[in-house]
Amino acid sequence: MSGELSPIDKAKFVAARQAAEFVESGMRVGLGTGSTAAWLVRCLGEKVREEGLRIKGVPTSTRTAELARDVGLEVISLDEAKWLDLTIDGADEFDTELSLIKGGGGALLQEKIVATASDQMIVIADAAKEVRMLGGFPLPVEVIPFGWQSTQALVEEILISMDVMGRQATMRMNGDRPFVTDEANHIIDLHLSRIGNPRQLSMVLNQIPGVVENGLFIDICDKVVIGHSDGRVEVRDINEGTVTESQLDFVEDENLFRDI
Ligand code: A5P
Repeated sequence: MSGELSPIDKAKFVAARQAAEFVESGMRVGLGTGSTAAWLVRCLGEKVREEGLRIKGVPTSTRTAELARDVGLEVISLDEAKWLDLTIDGADEFDTELSLIKGGGGALLQEKIVATASDQMIVIADAAKEVRMLGGFPLPVEVIPFGWQSTQALVEEILISMDVMGRQATMRMNGDRPFVTDEANHIIDLHLSRIGNPRQLSMVLNQIPGVVENGLFIDICDKVVIGHSDGRVEVRDINEGTVTESQLDFVEDENLFRDI
C-alpha cells in the first residue's frame, strides 16, 4: 500500500467492515458497485480467507465481478441465485426515509435488479452522502441508445410538470463518446438540485418508452451503515426504527489494502 488512506476512504472502509458483519455463511449476497462497495468486497474476501466464511456473491457490474474473483469470492449470476438473502451497496445520496440516488458509477440497472431481488438491502456510505432532500447529486437515467435524443427531449418535457428545482439533462460521456453501461445503454444525468416527490418522479420517468430505469431507489433500502473517518459507525434500520453506534479500530491491513 502506498501512503495512508484518505479520511473519506477510512469512512467508507469502516462502513463496509461493519456491514460485512451482517453477512453469514450460506448466504447469497448481492455485491454493489463503486468505491464503497469495493471495500465491502475486499472485507468479504478477507472473511472468506481468514474466517472460512462461505457465501455466493452476485456482482452488480463487470468491475465488481472482477474484484470479487480477485479477492477469492465465489461469483454466480443472479439467474443462478434466483433470489438473494442480502445486497450491500453504496449510494450517491440517501435521505431520512432511506430513499436513494444511485448510478454515479453507471451500474444502476443491475444494482436495482439485484437489490430488488433480495430479502434485504443495506447501504454503506460515508456521512457526506446523507441529505435532507434528494437531488443535489445528478439523477442518472439509463436509456436505450435507439432514439436517445428523442428520449432526452421527452424527459426534459416531463420535468416541467415535476416538483424539481433544476431541469438540465446531459448525456454522460466517456471521452468524446456517450458512456456505455454493462447493459449497452446510455445514461442521461438530470441536474435537478432538489426532488420534491421522488416516488412520483421515478414512476413518471419509467413510463417513457426509451427509459430503461432511473437511479431513484424508493422503499428498497432497509438499513444504512454510515462510516466516519475517526472509526465511528452508525447503523440505522428503517423497519425497526433503531439507531446503533459503534467504534471500529482502524488498523491498516497490508493484505486487505494490497491493491490500493
Ligand atoms: C454505482 O453505479 C453507484 O450506484 C454507486 O453505488 C454509487 O455511485 C456510490 O459510489 P461510491 O461508493 O464510489 O461513492
